[in-house]
Parts: sequence; C-alpha cells; structure tokens
Amino acid sequence: MKEQLEKLKKDALTAIEVLKDGVALENLYNKILGRKNGELTELMKSIKDLSLEAKKIIGPLANDLKNEIEELFKQKREKLWQDNFQSGLEKERIDITQPALPKITRGSYHPNTIVQRELEELFVSMGFTVVDGPELESDYYNFEALNIPVTHPARDSHDTFYIKNHLNWLMRTHTSPVQVRALQKYGAPLRIIAPGRCFRNEATDACHEHTFYQLEGLVVDKNISIANLIDVMKKLLSGVFKKEVEVRMRPGFFPFVEPGFELDMKCLVCKGDGCGACKHGGWIEVLPCGLVHPKVIQAGGLDPKIYSGFAFGLGMTRLVMQKFGIGDIRVLQSGKINQ
Ligand code: FA5
Repeated sequence: MKEQLEKLKKDALTAIEVLKDGVALENLYNKILGRKNGELTELMKSIKDLSLEAKKIIGPLANDLKNEIEELFKQKREKLWQDNFQSGLEKERIDITQPALPKITRGSYHPNTIVQRELEELFVSMGFTVVDGPELESDYYNFEALNIPVTHPARDSHDTFYIKNHLNWLMRTHTSPVQVRALQKYGAPLRIIAPGRCFRNEATDACHEHTFYQLEGLVVDKNISIANLIDVMKKLLSGVFKKEVEVRMRPGFFPFVEPGFELDMKCLVCKGDGCGACKHGGWIEVLPCGLVHPKVIQAGGLDPKIYSGFAFGLGMTRLVMQKFGIGDIRVLQSGKINQ
C-alpha cells in the first residue's frame, strides 16, 4: 500500500501542476479526494483491513498525503481564480483617453431599388407575378419575336452593344423580350411585370444613359381592352407618386403593339417649365404602352384570335428621377456620394 500511496502522490502532483481551469480542478479533486470512489479516499477506507503494525505506518502516511494534496488543491484554486480575475480586468479595461469613434452614418437603398420594390409590391397586390429575363439576349427575342425584322427602321433607335463574333447576341435594349419568353413559358392568362436593366449605345445626356432600368408589364387574357390598360397605368403612377400626376397620352409607334401610345407625365423636377430632365419640353416620356400585336401573341405560342393583351415599358430610371427630383440621370450611376 505504501507504493500505491507514493504512486498516487506522484500522479496527483503532476496533474495538479498542469491544471488550467476551475472545472478541470474540481474534476481532479473528485477523482482523488471525492467522498465516493475518490482514489485516495478508497485507499484510506481499506486501511481498516491492514494489520495493526501496518495501520500504524500507513495511517499517518495516508493522512499526511491527504493534507498535502488538499493544500495543493487550495493553492491551485486560489491561483486560478487570481489569474482569471486579472485577465478579466485586463479585458474590461477602458482607455478613457481614447478619442470618440466618428459617428457612423448609415447608407440607404439606391433610389432605383426603392422604386423597383414599391412597384413590385404594387403590382403583386394587383395579382401580377414578378419575372426576370436575361440581360444578354438573342437577336430573336430582342427584335424578331417582337415584330422587328432585320431591316426594320425601329432597330435604329435601339443601337446597342453586340457580342464580338456572336452577332446574334446583344445586351438587351429593352425589357420587352421578356414578353415572348413569359408567354412561351407560362401561357395565358398571364399578368407579369419584369423589371431590369437595359443597354443602348447612346450619347449620354441629362435624360439618357447607356445603362438604365425599365419595367415591362404584360397582361394577356381573353377580352382585354384599352380601358384595362389605362386603369393599370393610372394605378401605377398614383402608386409611385402617392398623388395625382398630370399625364397626357399620344399615339406612339412600337412594332410590337397595335395601337401604341406614349404616356407622358408633366415634369415634376421643373413643374412643366422645362429643364434638362425633360429635354426642356415640360413633359417627360415615361410610359410607352399599347395593345399587344397579334404577331407577338403568336410568337408566344398563343392564338391571337382567342387572346389579346396590353403591354407597357415603363422607363423606370426616368420615373426615379421624377420621384426624387433628380435633374440628371447620370447621377444615379455615378460613384460620387455628394453631388
Ligand atoms: C421601348 O423600349 C419599348 N420596349 C417600350 C414598350 C413596351 C412599348 C411595351 C410598348 C409596349 P422606348 O425606346 O421608348 O420603348 O423606351 C421606353 C422608356 O425607356 C422611355 O420612355 C424612357 O423613359 C426609357 N428610356 C429609353 N431610353 C433611355 C435611355 N437611354 N436612358 C434612360 N431611359 C431611357
């Protein structure tokens, strides 16, 4: 038993020495001195079975060892507590001489994002689905399927960025290609909007950008009329501006609608007096629209004798300018924060 006590002492001293935290310390304490099954406790319990001679030697040895180990645990416990306390204080130390941090000013959503989300919410509330189309588009969907064949003069106003060595592919000039894609995919009845970026090879000015946002709308069903179109256009504008805005409607030509209209609104930047945002005309083209051309319905895979519809191509970036009183479209894509 004497050897057992010596081994236990050696092991215990090494284990106590390397202890790093309070939980490990209490576990080790229980392992050695725990009232139930502690290694030293068990050894001490078995002393009663020794001869009287042996008891006289082993008894005091075991007692001394127990006291020694208890003392070591006590010291270690205090040391660990002290260390923890110190490092806790270190962590909490505040440098009162440090200058205050500059006030962090929060950013906000881009005006385009704000208007796009408002419009999506408005149209979803009217039963429309929001769909997406590719920005890199084929000549077919951007032009042909929309009744704009290769030689059609309407292509002139849609000069864009073609893909080198792949002239059948281009950066879409409008969101209208989504019309045929959506008809082919979902059929009719259909009510969709498709917001997104468009690209044109433009000489930029206060109201023209090479990259801008449109929001396409398309409704195809049986018995759709101009009355439906006008109703939705009105809801759109009053939804965005939260007030009545002055509009005018005039005939407009787009090969994919028949009849076609240009819906202009009185410029809110200059209140109709004329400014850069409205090309000094007092009115701003924001909402071309019309009844869907039968050839487009056909390209979408439906019978134009059964189905009719209306479509619009909102100039979303221009609407954003109107809503926020922005006099130059280029500001919206500039990296400058304070214009
Ligand atoms: C079209 O792009 C047609 N796809 C719209 C359409 C859709 C008509 C469905 C009928 C039915 P347009 O080229 O006029 O049409 O452009 C539509 C709107 O986009 C314009 O009224 C204008 O507000 C905006 N827009 C056009 N070009 C630019 C540009 N370079 N920068 C900013 N906005 C532009």
